[in-house]
Amino acid sequence: MTKREETVHAAIQVRDLAYCPYSKHAVGAAVLGEDDKIYSACNVENASYGLTICAERNAIGTMLSNGCKKWKMIAVASPKGAFPCGACLQVLQEFASENAAVILVDSDRKISTFSLSELLPHPFSP
Ligand code: THU
Repeated sequence: MTKREETVHAAIQVRDLAYCPYSKHAVGAAVLGEDDKIYSACNVENASYGLTICAERNAIGTMLSNGCKKWKMIAVASPKGAFPCGACLQVLQEFASENAAVILVDSDRKISTFSLSELLPHPFSP
């Protein structure tokens, strides 16, 4: 398996662990770090809905907590291959390497690929 295939596979796998009893919208995200390791995480909801943690931001937190500071590819698995939300894009931007790629995967394993800069052409930068 290529690193790309492994990253996609990890996103699909971790999606099964999503804690989403309120929305029933399971998301899995897997980040390929600059260290060539994969860091994956799911979305984690809460009875106090606003405390929900998106899968992408959770994966970035996992990467950082394991000592890796930049990512070069992220795969996001969700029912319809949805784009990461705006808040996640901004957090992804903070730790992205040049030409970072965002791969979306739907429940039929259909894949579409974008660059982060396509999805967030104007990140907030004070
Ligand atoms: N969600 C993510 O995990 N990532 C996104 O980019 C947007 C939304 C989650 C949050 C919540 O658990 C569910 O999807 C429905 O919004």
